[in-house]
Amino acid sequence: MAPQLLNPKDFEALINGKRVALYTLKNAQGSIAQITNYGGTLASLWIKDKNNNFKDVVLGYKSLHEYQTNPNAYFGSIVGRYANRIAKGKFTLDNKTYNLAVNNGENHLHGGTTGFDAVVWDAKQPTGDTLELTYVSADMEEGYPGNLAVKVQYHLTDKNAIKIKYWAITDKTTVVNLTNHSYFNLKGEGNGDILDHKLQINASSFTSVDTTCIPTGELTAVDDTPLDFRKEKTIGKDINADYEQLIIGNGYDHNYVIDQNTTLNLAATAKEASTGITMNVYTTEPGVQLYTGNFISDKLVGKSGKKYHPRAAFCLETQHYPDSPNKPQFPTVVLRPKEEYHSVTLYKFSVAK
Ligand code: BGC
Repeated sequence: MAPQLLNPKDFEALINGKRVALYTLKNAQGSIAQITNYGGTLASLWIKDKNNNFKDVVLGYKSLHEYQTNPNAYFGSIVGRYANRIAKGKFTLDNKTYNLAVNNGENHLHGGTTGFDAVVWDAKQPTGDTLELTYVSADMEEGYPGNLAVKVQYHLTDKNAIKIKYWAITDKTTVVNLTNHSYFNLKGEGNGDILDHKLQINASSFTSVDTTCIPTGELTAVDDTPLDFRKEKTIGKDINADYEQLIIGNGYDHNYVIDQNTTLNLAATAKEASTGITMNVYTTEPGVQLYTGNFISDKLVGKSGKKYHPRAAFCLETQHYPDSPNKPQFPTVVLRPKEEYHSVTLYKFSVAK
């Protein structure tokens, strides 16, 4: 099947004087990524499977309006200023306490009420395979200090990777943790659940969480736990195990501490047998959140008209650890003036015949 592209007209709008559009990137392998500058959202990603049929491997909606009105899943968006949770929406930096929106139980999640997923980025498409997005988050926006100038570059490479580079600078000391929140289903979006996908994660430990999904501060070894993905296994194999951490998350919703041996590490590999599509995730970040779509609402209808439901996709969100601003023992997320935040993540696709 040929790619069924989203219609750019369904993404055109003017929001607070800024133009929203849908950009289309193509590579030499015929893969196609469609990205809107609303939230920097990867809205579709067409990859050829072993039978030369294109599959759209990410969940999403068919129009801007649906992204605006159903934001809770963060399908494909850039998440910031702080991906994942900050306990009770509070942190202290240089002796000053900052208060953020509490938008997830008693905690702050994914940058707050209007995070980077729900703002209009400035966009430039220098070449047919690259999109550059910039956004300046004002001092105290969502409670975070400092004017933060952020740049994100999406590049659909000829080696069949969607390569995402992030940069940020600030004029006051602040915290930053950026990710992309794509939901993958390597059978194609809307084609059932991901429980039979095989997954391998290069992580010997994870940040265990309390009942509100905030890290306790401990790194727990994966040995003899259902969270051990060092050897490939299906996502479904242990997902319903009677294990406290899985019960808290209603499935996998955990930050893995990547075993790092270089700057750009292979964090995880996911494979799906019927399409033969394999996805390798490489990142410079120290952590990756495995989220198995435990809370995807079954009221959502995806872009091709198929119903979504819990476990219809999985996320591998590369990141610094959740709640790092309150956990001095975790790798730092503090960014000071004159420093530059930079990270790189690749989702690289290949096909096993
Ligand atoms: C979080 C989940 C949350 C999901 C959607 C993930 O990054 O870890 O707890 O439900 O995003 O917001």
